[in-house]
Amino acid sequence: AAHLDFVFRPDANYLPLPVLEQSFGFSSLDATLLMASIARETSRIGLVTTISTTFGHPYLVARQLMSLHWLSHGRAGWNIVTALQGHENFGLPAMPPSDARYTRAIEFAEVVRALWSSFPSEALLVDRMSGRYADTAQILPIKHHGAEFAVEGPMNLPRFPGPRIPLMQAGGSAKGVDFAGQVADLVFGMTPDIASAKAMRDQLSARARAHGRAPRDIRLLPGLSLYLGETRKEARALFLETHRRVDRMQRVERVLSVIGLDLSEWPDDRRILPSDLPQPSTSNWGRTHRERLRRIVETEQPTVAELLARPEILSSVHWQVIGTVDDAFAEISSWFEAGAIDGFIAVPGGARSSLDLTLKALVPRLAEAGLFRREYRETSFLGHLQDENVLTPETGPDRFTSVNCIDVRAAKRSISSGTEDDSLNC
Ligand SMILES: Cc1cc2nc3c(=O)[nH]c(=O)nc-3n(C[C@H](O)[C@H](O)[C@H](O)COP(=O)(O)O)c2cc1C
Repeated sequence: AAHLDFVFRPDANYLPLPVLEQSFGFSSLDATLLMASIARETSRIGLVTTISTTFGHPYLVARQLMSLHWLSHGRAGWNIVTALQGHENFGLPAMPPSDARYTRAIEFAEVVRALWSSFPSEALLVDRMSGRYADTAQILPIKHHGAEFAVEGPMNLPRFPGPRIPLMQAGGSAKGVDFAGQVADLVFGMTPDIASAKAMRDQLSARARAHGRAPRDIRLLPGLSLYLGETRKEARALFLETHRRVDRMQRVERVLSVIGLDLSEWPDDRRILPSDLPQPSTSNWGRTHRERLRRIVETEQPTVAELLARPEILSSVHWQVIGTVDDAFAEISSWFEAGAIDGFIAVPGGARSSLDLTLKALVPRLAEAGLFRREYRETSFLGHLQDENVLTPETGPDRFTSVNCIDVRAAKRSISSGTEDDSLNC
């Protein structure tokens, strides 16, 4: 009803018991099967499942995803993850290093895409008169013999006769961003502030060009954690209530794991000075979060109590808005106008009311401002991502280089009604 581009399910293949004490910790239905059931209940929304390239096999994954694409009439999407944990469930002695995981992911995606093309739908004849089921001359093996996989093909399922399956990727290392530049239509970003989003946007554009693609072929969609209320006070109360059970010890551990500073013996009213910060780790994982916390200390010099009450410690490492629909609207507009994002992945938290405000008030507000579609114009997931092309040559689409998920792009309405707002150009 809100005309979102897609609904998305992260996923993992291990059970972290400490996390399970307080939250579901990925102890959930298989994401692809879940999407297949949602496909039956919906007609337009894209359905993005998560499948790891570290633990799966490309033949099985290619067939699963193409099955979802058929079942949803062209609405499947694949969030390609190299995963962070779970090796013990797949007979591996340890998690392979990040670079090795990406090497495998690149080959994995190549095999999956080749398999998708190996059995074109036109090869299906299903002709009773002649008795021919398929024109097998059109169905070709892929003969893949790589470092990681040997797959002969073809796939035992024809390609869906419509737009292809869009690919999503998340990962902040140089290899991760390069992989996105090579294959991703969408990037799920962990960018808590405009500066980090702009830097990520620039890196993605550079890597897209390096792989012979246009920067606008990749949409950067940061996660946006939303605690919305009718008033700021209500939103703040919802946020605090949601995280009430995160005790001091857990917060102190969070600070320790992110910036390496042990506050366990520090009194709450002691100020944290830049000189208290340990040397920053050079590891890529958590870099954005680390830099953000260090910046808070450098610019604000908070007390221990103040730092431990920050949203960055209490909850998500994503971009966060704790406030009213107006606050969220202003924040999203400013990020868009700064050219930092192409949309966002909304993560409404705390209560059903926060979800309702997101879908029933914030999204319509974005649509009113010409930053989001008012209705679906396409039926496939890729169609939603590309429906900027309905803009006329005189008005765009080139002017709207930033396109999006919950989709800041659909400015067609404001253009055609003559209310174009130049501030939307980026
Ligand atoms: C925003 C974000 C979301 C992710 N979601 C998942 C997920 O749902 N399942 C998973 O196994 N890994 C997930 N990952 C892990 C990545 O696939 C990747 O393994 C990890 O980020 C390490 O790569 P990097 O060093 O390039 O960041 C996610 C990473 C990020 C940054």
